[in-house]
Amino acid sequence: MTTTHPPIQVGDAFSVGKLTPRQLLALAASAEPGTTDPVEMALGDTLRREYPDLQVPEVLPGESSPARRDRRYSVARVRAFPGSEGAIRDLNVMRGDLEAVMGAARAPREIRSVLRRNAQMASMRGARPLAVASARVQPDGSLGPYRMQGFVALRTTPARGFAEETALRPGEWVRVNVWSALLRFQHWLNVVVVFVLSCTGYYIMDPFFGPPARAGEPTGYLMGWFRLVHFIAAFVWLAVGLTRVIMAFRSRDRYLRWPALWPLRRKSDLVNLGQTAQYYLFLRKHAPLYLGHNPLQQLTYTGVYLLGAVQMAVGFSLYSLYHQDNAFWALVATPAHWVGVPNLRLLHTMIMFALWAFVIAHIYLAVRADSLERHGGVSSMVNGGVWLRRGSKPADAPVIE
Ligand code: HEM
Repeated sequence: MTTTHPPIQVGDAFSVGKLTPRQLLALAASAEPGTTDPVEMALGDTLRREYPDLQVPEVLPGESSPARRDRRYSVARVRAFPGSEGAIRDLNVMRGDLEAVMGAARAPREIRSVLRRNAQMASMRGARPLAVASARVQPDGSLGPYRMQGFVALRTTPARGFAEETALRPGEWVRVNVWSALLRFQHWLNVVVVFVLSCTGYYIMDPFFGPPARAGEPTGYLMGWFRLVHFIAAFVWLAVGLTRVIMAFRSRDRYLRWPALWPLRRKSDLVNLGQTAQYYLFLRKHAPLYLGHNPLQQLTYTGVYLLGAVQMAVGFSLYSLYHQDNAFWALVATPAHWVGVPNLRLLHTMIMFALWAFVIAHIYLAVRADSLERHGGVSSMVNGGVWLRRGSKPADAPVIE
């Protein structure tokens, strides 16, 4: 959005009261006629341009008091404001710094927290939130309590995408190559193979379509195809697992070797683990910075590797039952003899659901971390590189220069 006053631009309005965003914008724009305040002028311009049917509410001369050093908000009396449900009222509007306005207005705790969080997001995009609260003027002329209405995001620089901002300040962010091409290839192969194994495995467990099994009637070979695809994908997955084990022994990249799979070596690792968990539970604003995986993430991935290994062992133990005349497969079948085939099938299915739960949480956390921390974590699984601010010090790497 642009205004005729280039220094200030108006972004989104975030309403927590009954006002629509455009009514909130109108309230925030209320000004004395002929005002020279740059914020009021920018808001008025935006309102006139984007919502030409909305009037900038009138403030009579002498009925406003600007923000001061000791009171970081302004107060003005707005006449005949067309508010929610079409009610026309005289209001006092308070505008200014979010914490200062929240300190003077009423708002339940959860509203304050939502406002802070959204204002923080706006600030991360380079905007400054202009908080708005209002109080009704009662028929007897007295003033009701101030209630929080929301905020309007203001910017002093043109709104740009993150990529454009980064390109304008090339020195601020540094791209570090972390994930090797082979690891990325394995990652996406895992995605495809586990998807295929899940679909075919689910069908083996519950053949919910295809010819019904009726006594004496042929059922065709559909189940045979599902099993064949399951077994081919299983051998592909075994190959992926084996190459990962070879990498853990032979790779020159420390992020891929065995020690990296166990992230808890020093006391500080435990502290960072706790802080990361608090961050994920919304109890902390920032998590410790890591170039590779944070300890919680690494423990989870190591757990998933183990789960995958157990799933393969269980799967091949079931598979071996069809080849009992062979000494090797007879040995692989041992677990089936220990716990019984039904228990093994149950375990195989339960691990499938555990893997699905992991995939859902993994996608959510990867997208969340990428958008909040802006390190490009999601694309790093395609191009291998993550972005860190110059001068930052990850817990698992030297200062980024
Ligand atoms: C190397 C890995 C794997 C091997 C060797 C393997 C092998 C097998 C075998 C032999 C069966 C029984 C087929 C039959 O009796 O007709 C089976 C069933 C099944 N597989 Fe796998 N599998 C593997 C991985 C997976 C994965 C990763 C999943 C899901 C994420 C999965 C899900 C299932 C399910 C749900 C069943 C049906 C269980 C039942 O009700 O019997 N499998 N698998």
